[in-house]
Amino acid sequence: MAQHLSGPPSLEGQVALITGGAGGMGRAIANTFRDAGARVIATDIAEHADIGASIQYRRYDVTSRAQTDRVIDEVLTEHGAIDILVLCAGIIARTPLGDSTDEEWDAIMSVNVRGVVNPTRKLFPLMCERGFGKILAAGSIAAKNGGVASGPAYVSAKAAVHGMMRWVAKAGAPHGVYANVLAPGPVETAMWSNVTGNVAPSANATVPLGRYGNADDIAQAALFLCSPASNWITGTSLDISGGMWMD
Ligand SMILES: NC(=O)c1ccc[n+]([C@@H]2O[C@H](COP(=O)([O-])OP(=O)(O)OC[C@H]3O[C@@H](n4cnc5c(N)ncnc54)[C@H](O)[C@@H]3O)[C@@H](O)[C@H]2O)c1
Repeated sequence: MAQHLSGPPSLEGQVALITGGAGGMGRAIANTFRDAGARVIATDIAEHADIGASIQYRRYDVTSRAQTDRVIDEVLTEHGAIDILVLCAGIIARTPLGDSTDEEWDAIMSVNVRGVVNPTRKLFPLMCERGFGKILAAGSIAAKNGGVASGPAYVSAKAAVHGMMRWVAKAGAPHGVYANVLAPGPVETAMWSNVTGNVAPSANATVPLGRYGNADDIAQAALFLCSPASNWITGTSLDISGGMWMD
């Protein structure tokens, strides 16, 4: 007979590694997961050590396979296992196609795609061996609607993330390893203010629910997708967009 879950989603006893952990969403997810009982290791390229109480911080660059492997090995040595991997590191550009340079494409692809590939490539086989893991990557509404304030490199990179997580979900399912994608609309973090220059169009005019998202909106969805509450969900992308995208 199935056991019924009750109470708020719990991550008690689990170890979560988060990339982009010094950013708006990553930091909110780290604190939310800590509050749900997880041991949290936040990573980022930023020189930021203070993500929140009891949250470990490790600085590294997700575009480097060597750095990724080293940091994950260190965390595994210290904590024994990593149950949850959340991939939030990202950068954006809004340059239109004709003006975009090779350098910009390389940079966007490197952080947003390689930065998802590197930690997943290292951890996925280990999770499969253990028979459990939850992987959650930050995709975007941009992968579905062609971009809100983003250029083609960012849109393409996020579409790649959505595709890759579907592959991981399919390959991981027989081994108890889940992979899902968050597809946020505009969320008021540093990324959004950098790209709009603090002159974003009125949310009333563009978002059915009448406001842009905040980092906690994303963190609650991340908690659901990394907790036992979502144990029959894999390979999905969850739209968190105030109704801007519906499918
Ligand atoms: N804010 C939005 O509107 C929005 C919407 C949809 C999707 N997203 C995606 O959500 C994720 C989190 O975005 P956010 O809004 O919190 O942005 P943010 O800019 O606040 O955080 C991104 C973090 O990634 C880190 N980072 C960048 N390059 C890195 C590298 N090479 N190695 C390690 N860390 C690196 C940054 O230092 C930063 O802390 C991103 O992948 C973003 O593309 C954001």
